[in-house]
Amino acid sequence: MITLPARLAVFISGGGSNLQALIDASKRGELAARIVWVVSSSSSAYGLERAAMEGIETFVFEPKAYPTRELAEQDLLTRLSERHIDFIALAGYLKMVPNTVVRAYRGRMVNIHPALLPRYGGKGMYGHFVHEAVIASGDMESGPTVHLVDEVYDNGRILEQARVPVYPCDTVDTLAARVLAEEHKLYPRVLDNLIRGRYDKQTD
Ligand code: GRF
Repeated sequence: MITLPARLAVFISGGGSNLQALIDASKRGELAARIVWVVSSSSSAYGLERAAMEGIETFVFEPKAYPTRELAEQDLLTRLSERHIDFIALAGYLKMVPNTVVRAYRGRMVNIHPALLPRYGGKGMYGHFVHEAVIASGDMESGPTVHLVDEVYDNGRILEQARVPVYPCDTVDTLAARVLAEEHKLYPRVLDNLIRGRYDKQTD
């Protein structure tokens, strides 16, 4: 049984605009969670500064800094459990989450992807590559997908998507900005629904 507000960890690798959207939604009372921990794969991610400005504890997780992969995974799991983390939101996290963590958080870990899955997903489909692929396909719409995380990239059950038009004059930058604006609305809403148990319990 999880008591609300849930304790949320957000994993990032870069700018952290989605992290900011989650922080803001939580402050407005639109997300039944408190962001208590931010984990970054990179020590130079701007999202770490956003977290620090909000007084949120941060951690840079670098598996290579540990003697073995197993010890790195174990340390991450221990830190999650010490902080009683209920849910994990991946927000631009560019590394694979260790399988042990995926298993421990099955149904309680989500990711946001900047295109409509399942079509534009999988290894290598991140950042500008995703929007390039959408433009090259001639598709007339795109939009973010929020999905549960399983052991395979961009593969878990889709919870919700939002749609935006793709215009003939779009560049990667104009399309990315249109999708990102939707991400900031979609992600807090879907997380709130998940935390409140509004999706059925099937996890994949
Ligand atoms: C977003 O486009 C998200 O969909 C993808 O990575 C990007 C992260 O952006 N997974 P930000 O760091 O939240 O600004």
